[in-house]
Amino acid sequence: MLIAQLSDPHICRPGELYHGVVDPAEALRNVVAQLLALDPAPDLVLLTGDVTEHGEAAEYELARDILAPLLDRLLVLPGNHDEREAFRFAFADQPHLPKAGLLHFAVDRGPVSVIGLDITVPGAHHGEIDAPMLDWLAAELAMRPDRPVFLMLHQPPFESGIGFIDPYRCFGGEGLAALLARHPNVERVLCGHVHRAMHLRFGGTIASMAPSTATAIALRLAEGALPASSLEPPAMLLHHWREGPGTVTHHLPIGNFPGPFNFF
Ligand SMILES: [Fe+2]
Repeated sequence: MLIAQLSDPHICRPGELYHGVVDPAEALRNVVAQLLALDPAPDLVLLTGDVTEHGEAAEYELARDILAPLLDRLLVLPGNHDEREAFRFAFADQPHLPKAGLLHFAVDRGPVSVIGLDITVPGAHHGEIDAPMLDWLAAELAMRPDRPVFLMLHQPPFESGIGFIDPYRCFGGEGLAALLARHPNVERVLCGHVHRAMHLRFGGTIASMAPSTATAIALRLAEGALPASSLEPPAMLLHHWREGPGTVTHHLPIGNFPGPFNFF
């Protein structure tokens, strides 16, 4: 089972550059082309939020247009830059998304399950996990005691160590970690939001953060470092689940690179 994870494409209005530096639509088109050329093709494509920059209808239309070849295998979750109802309207034909309320979902596909947790707080950039969310998640996990589970949420439920972004993490991560620790079949917690690839131990499983398909947040680990962004090679994650070894996560740069050459 091959599961691609994209994050934070931040699609802007048609023709508009993301913060004046990069065309996010072109960047996402490159991702789609690269995914369609993979052999084998991914069985699932997970998009961990911030589909758009402003949550506007025209941005969602453009995003949908670019993602069209992948809609049959796309599981998409909103981020803090998305607007819940515009998002719901834009992806109304996606069977995994509920018609009302928070945009949580649980999908069983082949041997794996994917659960999405909508932790966004309208008008805020941080996320929050509250008791009703944990109850919902506990019930969904209880229904899948033996299936490998991938849990998607936009903001990471942990401190990244990049001080200027951590106030915008997902709060309530301690309760989530305690719940996940009781479910060893959870393969990964998959997030985005920080625009960097990161992996750490969390709740007895591994939390993996996918980089943005558009831009990177500067890797500034010094205390008091000023916020900054940069253009680094965009990338995505590929989670390759197999019976036996479990999940191997690959970091896949996006672009056309020289090669292949003869093996050396
Ligand atoms: Fe975000």
